[in-house]
Amino acid sequence: MKKSIAIFSTKGGVGKTVFTLNLAGIYETLGKKVLIIDYDLTNGGIALSLNKEFNKTIHDYAYDIFANQKKSLKEYTTKYDEYIDFIASPKDPRLVSQIDNYAIISLINEASHNYDVILIDTNHVLTASNLVLLDGVDEILFLATNDPIDLKNLKNLLVIFKNNQKTNYKILLNDSYNPYKNYFSLYDIKNIIKANIDYTLTNNFFVKNIDQYIMNGEILTLQKDAPKVFDKDYANLLKLAVDYMEKDDNNGK
Ligand SMILES: Nc1ncnc2c1ncn2[C@@H]1O[C@H](COP(=O)(O)OP(=O)(O)OP(=O)(O)O)[C@@H](O)[C@H]1O
Ligand SMILES: [Mg+2]
Repeated sequence: MKKSIAIFSTKGGVGKTVFTLNLAGIYETLGKKVLIIDYDLTNGGIALSLNKEFNKTIHDYAYDIFANQKKSLKEYTTKYDEYIDFIASPKDPRLVSQIDNYAIISLINEASHNYDVILIDTNHVLTASNLVLLDGVDEILFLATNDPIDLKNLKNLLVIFKNNQKTNYKILLNDSYNPYKNYFSLYDIKNIIKANIDYTLTNNFFVKNIDQYIMNGEILTLQKDAPKVFDKDYANLLKLAVDYMEKDDNNGK
């Protein structure tokens, strides 16, 4: 079943967390139950962005597996609304090294019985924990940006993927996080990374007062006027979300 999607990038601060939340909002409007896993283990921002208190984190989940005392999944998740739950990253970054790299695989497997879609927000570093995630997840969505270092890194990672016959990824060009980054043309970008761009978010999706939404725990795509205000970008997000659902259907699972 194709339901777990890792949101990954080859540079930090390119809009992964904001995008993950917006995609979760889109799935909610499609009536899907979503689990967001905050797998930016040392610097996670999902709970803060949803303005929710939480008791348990992914560290508790991993520890309880290790100690053979794991409880049901809902003991570790926090509810945002009727459709979206999340599992927070540890409050204390010193706990991160105690998390078994394979706990994320158990978590994804278990969550796939309870949710329609599992969105995993990551950081961009090629740590062992992220590599295990990228190997184990159904789909990887790269957020690429109009940035020379990002594109160089993405190109190199795609070569490694190709050499390993790894094809379960899509690339989204995120022009929404910083409207001033527009040095390369789309043609240049495809040429640099030697790959196609599957989806784009334009700079029309740049939201000046985004921090206000974050501090209020509001998801942009769940705002009533979002389809109208964001127009084509909203439609692109919707298409992306539906594409993943159709993949599921095609497999007959
Ligand atoms: N659509 C948007 N409109 C305006 N600002 C945005 C948008 N998307 C992202 N940003 C801003 O860009 C910055 C980075 O966004 P975000 O935290 O989502 O990136 P990230 O890839 O998750 O970063 P990290 O690698 O640190 O996890 C933030 O300051 C955020 O406010
Ligand atoms: Mg982030």
